[in-house]
Amino acid sequence: MSALPAASAAPVTPDRGTPEWSTPSGGVPDKTALAQWWRDSVCYEVYPRSFSDSDGDGTGDLRGVTACLEYLSALGVDAVWITPFYPSPLADAGYDIADHTAVAPELGTLADFDALVLKAHALGLKILVDVVPNHTSDAHPWFRQAVVSAPGSRARQRYMFRPGQGQDGEAPPNDWRSAFGGPAWTRVPEPDGRPGEWYLHLHAPEQPDLNWRDGEVVDDFERILRFWLDHGVDGFRVDVAHTLFKESDLPDAGPGQHQDISRNHLMPYYDLDDLHPLFRQWRALLDRHPARPGAVPPGERLLVAEAAVFDPDRLSRYVGPGEMQQSFNFAFLECPWDAEAMRRVIEGSVAAMAAVDAPVTWVLSSHDAVRPVTRYGGGSTGRRRARAAALLMLALPGAAYVFQGEELGLPQAELPDGRLRDPLWERSGHTDRGRDGCRVPIPWKGGRAPYGFSSAAPEDCWFPQPADWTSLTVEAQHGDSGSMLTLYRTALRIRREHPAPLSGPLTLLGPDDASWLGFDRGSELRCVVNFGPDPVPLDQDDEVLLSSAPVGGRKIPADTTVWVRRRPLR
Ligand code: GLC
Repeated sequence: MSALPAASAAPVTPDRGTPEWSTPSGGVPDKTALAQWWRDSVCYEVYPRSFSDSDGDGTGDLRGVTACLEYLSALGVDAVWITPFYPSPLADAGYDIADHTAVAPELGTLADFDALVLKAHALGLKILVDVVPNHTSDAHPWFRQAVVSAPGSRARQRYMFRPGQGQDGEAPPNDWRSAFGGPAWTRVPEPDGRPGEWYLHLHAPEQPDLNWRDGEVVDDFERILRFWLDHGVDGFRVDVAHTLFKESDLPDAGPGQHQDISRNHLMPYYDLDDLHPLFRQWRALLDRHPARPGAVPPGERLLVAEAAVFDPDRLSRYVGPGEMQQSFNFAFLECPWDAEAMRRVIEGSVAAMAAVDAPVTWVLSSHDAVRPVTRYGGGSTGRRRARAAALLMLALPGAAYVFQGEELGLPQAELPDGRLRDPLWERSGHTDRGRDGCRVPIPWKGGRAPYGFSSAAPEDCWFPQPADWTSLTVEAQHGDSGSMLTLYRTALRIRREHPAPLSGPLTLLGPDDASWLGFDRGSELRCVVNFGPDPVPLDQDDEVLLSSAPVGGRKIPADTTVWVRRRPLR
């Protein structure tokens, strides 16, 4: 590669001065300028059942999250997204919601939620919560009422009930498949006991799809948004935002249908234009609903789309003017460890989002994805690449999300068959082990499960943790200059303390077919990722600000990212 330019000021050393993970960070994040904070924010995803258990029942809870907020503040994130903590029969780990405006009793109370928000705001952390509009739980009062009501009744119109095909309606209304396997339709017995209509569920049968062409559904979700805004939240993550609307006549999807819903680009329930007026309405609601003290002002509230839409131009429509502000970039998460593929994803995403003046929202992991360490090859290779990927993500222009445990470099846990809970396991006929392996409780400290996650016995924790996680605990990694935790803390600190270079424009370097990927952020910072096996030379004068692996002999080794300082950072 061409020579990297020289740099001059003293390097930023690894973050040795970070306070104990269990004690307050001693400060509110530096980023006080609020205007459009979400453009370059880093948000931490908390999966509350697996984060920290305050009452010893083996399941993480809201008080547990509150107790660990200092850890998140010290990590250096701007916001915390808490995945569903609402009452749920747990057919899909909480994404089957029975009451959208309450707290699951095993996770706490509304007062606990209010205390969490209060403390987060005092620490300078913003709080996002999930809104799950595509479906409810089958235990939701609306659905319970629908199944005991007659076909065509008001109660049924809130969902997608249809008569079946065939002489006796014995075949489903169309050929749609559930994302978790099997048909997307389930038949109900009518109140008189005869086999009756079918209802649509793009996910598990316990997650009936709502009818977004029904005014009462629209109104109820506005009520839900207002409810959580009144409890001080700063924004919402919108679950499966791309499937709320279905083509009105529910045509067959045809043979091209994939079980993975995110692959069904041309299907009659995928990414319909009807979605956008709804999301503009939500944005207008967020922009005008009065704010609670401590929360961000109305015009600064955030909507982030979970839209598994891989065409960057289609994805950019969710974040057009007056709509949401962020949409997760799943193409980045799913991109193989390959320079050319990464370059294509980055170039395409940056261009598409720039066209609508929205940030790219980078994401490497979530509660739905195989952990990066495992996905990139496992073992030491996977860990090395996950470190390099983290520095790549955090140098790119835009916002980023970090899923709990990503900053610890946790691998995907292998769970015994009997402990798997993901509906994918049963519905795939035990061929797909599902997503539970990334949802295992966080190891905080100590040498044995449950590693400080809970005071319950390991066998009473809602998921078992691996026996070899002692070196991955927060306690073990804290203060270790070579740990993943220190890498994340240091990168986030540089991002926060030196926002200027990291808000500079992106200039990609080098030829398209190189085995490395390089880019400049303005004139101060350069990021180079070596995906290939051969070392990539640094110039004699290049000053390495931060690297994901030791850089010896002025060469970037395989599977390594370096941040190079080109001028003193502002
Ligand atoms: C989203 C959630 C996932 C859930 C699905 C159905 O993709 O992230 O966990 O299974 O929606 O609600």
